[in-house]
Amino acid sequence: MAKRALIIDDDEKARSILRVHLDKAGYLTSEAKDAETAYKILEENSFEVVTCDIRKVGGIKVLEHIKKEYKTLPVIMLTGFVNVETAVEVMKKGAVDYLTKPIKKDELLIALERAIQHKRLLEEEEAARVNMSRELEEAVKESIERTSELERAYSQLKRANFDMVKTLSGAIEAKDPFTKGHSYRVSQLSLEIAKRLNFLNLSEEQLEILEYGSLLHDIGKIGIKDAVLKKTSRLTTKEYAHVQRHTIIGEEIIRPVEIFRPALPLLRNHHEHFDGRGYPDGLKGKEINIYARIIAVTDSFDAMTSDRPYRKALTVEEALFEIRRVRGTQFDPQIVDVFIGDKIYDRYII
Ligand SMILES: [Fe+2]
Repeated sequence: MAKRALIIDDDEKARSILRVHLDKAGYLTSEAKDAETAYKILEENSFEVVTCDIRKVGGIKVLEHIKKEYKTLPVIMLTGFVNVETAVEVMKKGAVDYLTKPIKKDELLIALERAIQHKRLLEEEEAARVNMSRELEEAVKESIERTSELERAYSQLKRANFDMVKTLSGAIEAKDPFTKGHSYRVSQLSLEIAKRLNFLNLSEEQLEILEYGSLLHDIGKIGIKDAVLKKTSRLTTKEYAHVQRHTIIGEEIIRPVEIFRPALPLLRNHHEHFDGRGYPDGLKGKEINIYARIIAVTDSFDAMTSDRPYRKALTVEEALFEIRRVRGTQFDPQIVDVFIGDKIYDRYII
């Protein structure tokens, strides 16, 4: 198919010289004597290449217009004067070549061929780019779909996990009716404290660990003898040692469940004392997992303010007095300060 070229030049003679050269080389030519005519012709036809005189037709403006409207259409600028600055300027603005008059036929044809070649490359690049962005778009869409599927599956799994935690914590309470609602209140109070300990800056996920960890903190009581759990008189040393084992048993029960593993230190160490005199490991201060330090306070508070087989519930004031008394020995002082200072205890009093 013949290649189409547009010649833009105000000078009739100059146009006809170009036309003769191009006709002989097999081009189909159109001519424009000014910018307006050129724009009109460009709107109605497509071309492989444009030659444009710089001076009288306002060639630089024409060049800018073409580059804006027909990005890949190559423009060869022609001028009667050799001027390096102008040459640099037009190349910067996107001209593919710059020729000085009088135009030599061979030079012109080579420039035209090169320009057309250049156009083809640009078009191929553009097609590849469009293709790539389409592929990318597809990939992004696919990945969004996959992500939301995963999110759905994840939230289902999470719901199932929480159901399992609730069932397990229900199992503890079924065995020890005196602790009805205890795990739930401990978990809520603990979350309130954790959110206020700004230095912790806990993520959603970490808060979840604290939540299910505190729901499960006494799960090990499943392994404690009923006779001991429900005993109304003072425990013997042996019985007390047996009850203490609920921390280790709890850890053993939960360890095989991978998703609950982050909560293991909380199960094992919620009876540690800040001064190192707790059980089962005798950990001290910050050696004790932060979740376990939080639960130590909320667990004790809720236990003190609930009826137990061996005693009646303390009043809130009495319980707070006791917590204050062991601030820094049994409990992390920072946690006690938040618990009492921010009146967290007020929220879930039974
Ligand atoms: Fe416990």
